Amino acid sequence: MIKQSILDALNNQVEAEATASQLYLAMASWADARGLEGISEFLFAHSDEERMHMLKLVRFINERGGKAIIPALQMPRQDFQNLHEIFEMLLEHEIKVSEMINEIVDLTLAEKDYTTHNFLQWYVSEQIEEERLARIILDKLKLIGDDKGGMYLFDRDISSFHSPK
Ligand code: FEO
Repeated sequence: MIKQSILDALNNQVEAEATASQLYLAMASWADARGLEGISEFLFAHSDEERMHMLKLVRFINERGGKAIIPALQMPRQDFQNLHEIFEMLLEHEIKVSEMINEIVDLTLAEKDYTTHNFLQWYVSEQIEEERLARIILDKLKLIGDDKGGMYLFDRDISSFHSPK
């Protein structure tokens, strides 16, 4: 039977993934309303991925004999200054999520829960990739600055920044 401390940490993570999904959905919608087709598609897909991260946790908790808690969420930001702010926020959120995952990994070792430890390795690798991608995007946005032509190409090419998994 899964320990309560692990269960609490995993349920907390369910909330973090759901929060990320909603935040990225709000960002996607903001970009969509501005005709930034490529960027909005990227963010819609990213929001879906976060929901998948949440579902994976929900199923795991239930499989292990725990009870997943589906959380109420705060309304995410609806308005953003620009794309730079969006991707700064996204990177910040991913760094926070990585720290949370690492803390649960530490806890699984302390509690000798090797099944959950093994399950979390997927999230550890995923976080490395997500942080890397957010940094690449931010670097590109910094290079582009206010150049409209550069932004056009960025919007067109953003879907290709994902490395194959
Ligand atoms: Fe599921 Fe991007 O953290």
